[in-house]
Amino acid sequence: MTQLIDSFGRVHRDLRISLTDKCNLRCSYCMPEFFNQWIPSKEHLTTDELITVIDIAVEAGIDEIRLTGGEPLLRNDIVEIVTRINQLEKPPAISMTTNGIALKRIASALVNAGLQRINVSLDTLDAARFKEITKRDNIAQVFEGLAEAKRVGLSPIKINSVLVRGVNDDEAPKLLKWALEEGYRLRFIEQMPLDAGNAWDRETFVSAIEIRESLGQHYSLEPVAQRGSAPAEEFLIDGGPQTVGIIASITAPFCGACDRLRLTSDGQLRSCLFATRETSVRDVLRNAELSESEKRARISALIFDSVAKKEAGHAINTPTFTKPVRPMSAIGG
Ligand code: 5AD
Ligand code: SF4
Repeated sequence: MTQLIDSFGRVHRDLRISLTDKCNLRCSYCMPEFFNQWIPSKEHLTTDELITVIDIAVEAGIDEIRLTGGEPLLRNDIVEIVTRINQLEKPPAISMTTNGIALKRIASALVNAGLQRINVSLDTLDAARFKEITKRDNIAQVFEGLAEAKRVGLSPIKINSVLVRGVNDDEAPKLLKWALEEGYRLRFIEQMPLDAGNAWDRETFVSAIEIRESLGQHYSLEPVAQRGSAPAEEFLIDGGPQTVGIIASITAPFCGACDRLRLTSDGQLRSCLFATRETSVRDVLRNAELSESEKRARISALIFDSVAKKEAGHAINTPTFTKPVRPMSAIGG
């Protein structure tokens, strides 16, 4: 069994794939309300191309596939994608990050296809605020989707929340109370400068420390010792066993334990959300002069090369940091 090890000794096991850059919401920290710079559909990897890359990645040492976007459930071949990943010789664990809107319709089919775990993005419990944040009016569908995910046995169900000052920064304890009652695992994510519209601003940024303080006014939080490669720092709530996670991507980057590699919806490999380099596996897949086995060998080499050249960490907190030219919806959140 091969392993994907970078020059800092980090073993890479997790491949995060953006299935589409499109979304049916417009979360302020992700894309502007009238965003229209979509990747042309012919540039997206086809189902066959995706499965080929995943198969090669699994052979190289990947054992977990996370499907994301954009909104992954907007791909009309999503059930086929999950089914085919699960039919690989060595099926990896499969999870998905979604806004939950389509889950009511499709959660059952996804579970039957082999999906195991799900992360749902939800920043507020209030319908008016949801509309303010996402520019769309369908919080009810998210709640229905979550209920369906629970009913069909997806477990754990994680909730990702991004707090923005002056918008929903007062809602952390309320979100936690709700998540505890519903049996969801809540994680707060510090807002990262990865939006398509320059929404990131130090003034509206809410730090992990602030989130901890806000939760601390209602709950006792005790850090859980073992973190592994998970980006969230977990805290036992009121002595446990339930926990809450805080992902301090900006104020306490977790690059030292990173085990992730990324594939964009248009077939570019990236070793980090903030990487300045990408390599195209799509060009190899569509090179008519190569045989199938030559393509596989080249893509495998590109995967090993991308990991080998991975930087020690991102430089968000340095003065020379420049925002990546591509938004998170294409890179894969
Ligand atoms: N900063 C932090 N998290 C973000 N997400 C989307 N954009 C950003 C950002 N700029 C979150 C989504 C989703 C997860 C994949 O990333 O809410 O839950
Ligand atoms: Fe869509 Fe997720 Fe971006 Fe919100 S954060 S607009 S749900 S892709």
